[in-house]
Amino acid sequence: MKKISMLINAMDRISHINPEIYGHFSEHLGRCIYNGIYVGEDSDIPNTDGIRNDIIEAFRKIKLPVLRWPGGCFADEYHWTDGIGEKASRKKMINSNWGGVTEDNSFGTHEFFRLCELVGCEPYLAGNMGSGTIQELSEWVEYITLHSGSPMSELRRKNGRDEPWKLKYLGIGNENWGCGGNMRPEYYADEYRRYQSFCKNHSGNELFRIACGPSANDYNWTEVMMKNLSKFHTKALSLHYYTVPTGDWSKKGKALEFDNDLYYSTISKTLYMDELITRHTEIMNRYDPENEIGLIVDEWGCWYDVEEGTNPGFLYQQNSMRDAVVAACNLNIFNRHSKRVIMANLAQAVNVLQALILTEGEKLVKTPTYHVFDLYKEHQGGELVYCFCSDEKAGTKDKIPMISSSASLKNGVMTITLANCSVEDSADISCDIRGFACSEASARILTGDAHSFNDFDSPENVVIGDFAVSLENGVLSAELPPCSVVSVTLK
Ligand code: AHR
Repeated sequence: MKKISMLINAMDRISHINPEIYGHFSEHLGRCIYNGIYVGEDSDIPNTDGIRNDIIEAFRKIKLPVLRWPGGCFADEYHWTDGIGEKASRKKMINSNWGGVTEDNSFGTHEFFRLCELVGCEPYLAGNMGSGTIQELSEWVEYITLHSGSPMSELRRKNGRDEPWKLKYLGIGNENWGCGGNMRPEYYADEYRRYQSFCKNHSGNELFRIACGPSANDYNWTEVMMKNLSKFHTKALSLHYYTVPTGDWSKKGKALEFDNDLYYSTISKTLYMDELITRHTEIMNRYDPENEIGLIVDEWGCWYDVEEGTNPGFLYQQNSMRDAVVAACNLNIFNRHSKRVIMANLAQAVNVLQALILTEGEKLVKTPTYHVFDLYKEHQGGELVYCFCSDEKAGTKDKIPMISSSASLKNGVMTITLANCSVEDSADISCDIRGFACSEASARILTGDAHSFNDFDSPENVVIGDFAVSLENGVLSAELPPCSVVSVTLK
């Protein structure tokens, strides 16, 4: 057992935690959209307009605030007009990025907006800059948001939707330094300025235009974007960083097979997110001290070798308590950087990479990662407050901070989230709460061996349970077991 001292000062309010930090990502990749989210109206699986009811319910439970679609790499070869109109006559394509399978475009714009409507979340579209045209993207915006009177708005009406939808988040391209066109930052910045000029605000809709940002530690990309794009051009830059346990993309490591060394190296690699955000923020601060351009981490999570026997192009992987700790650490990092980080999107929502949910036919399993989003949901829309934690270390070769934490206030309630990253030691936490009068404390926990996971035969192996904490004279005490994620509520 290791002793940990903490101090929370509720008088020190740091920044607003945008609900969108708890956002997600759904790509036409493997079984994320088809079978995972969308089964079609004729399926035996209970659905609403083809969208699985169990998915809608699960997304609503964690208050999923924003969903990014249709990719990823897929976005830069997606032509939206293929996905509207009569399903039987929709054009088919080959999904060349992800397994070379046939995409029948039965899930398109109308289906995506219906999904967002049912879940109650903001849609976030990634537009095609890599292989599309300005006209194509500008007409997509017109189709979605213009009330009436133009060829595109009339086409939407003909396809059964009279009222325009609201569209806030529009990404212009995806990974344009890689699968989205292998562009140099200077070239992308110029192209971005042209594209965004023709993505207009129609019928009272206001777009929040997002530029493709850097891959991991490509600080030059951020520098060039900030030099060339002003707040008039863009509201945010994206950042992509994946946690690869071995650090070797050709042999990333398996989802459920790892020893303590690899476990700690996974957590250490995930904590690198903090340095990345800090350094990109430093660059952004130089050009934008008023904080008018946000950072959006719209792809993050663990990327392992695919499960044996599955299509390598489908990126299907299991999800254990190790992933839960990874998710908890990242969400605490995003909260702590919420002055600049205004959105984040885990990759991906269903059946792909560090998924919230796995499906097999009609069965659905909530992963440990899903439960972390459930534990953390009360941070959404809260005010981040000062939270200090003593620097006890855990780990074998890679020493990491043992505890990851953050705290926020909303409607007179304080939420504190903690992860004990050690797989060996419990943490004896003593936390001084200042500037917030409270008399009631309750907590929930997710814990288990780092390898424990939920599967179709044992879907409730890892679930949230109640957790005993005590509050005396403004001091919160708790004993966190190894490999655990806890959410404390103080009133
Ligand atoms: O999430 C899987 C892929 O990872 C996305 O399509 C791409 O943007 C990234 O490289």
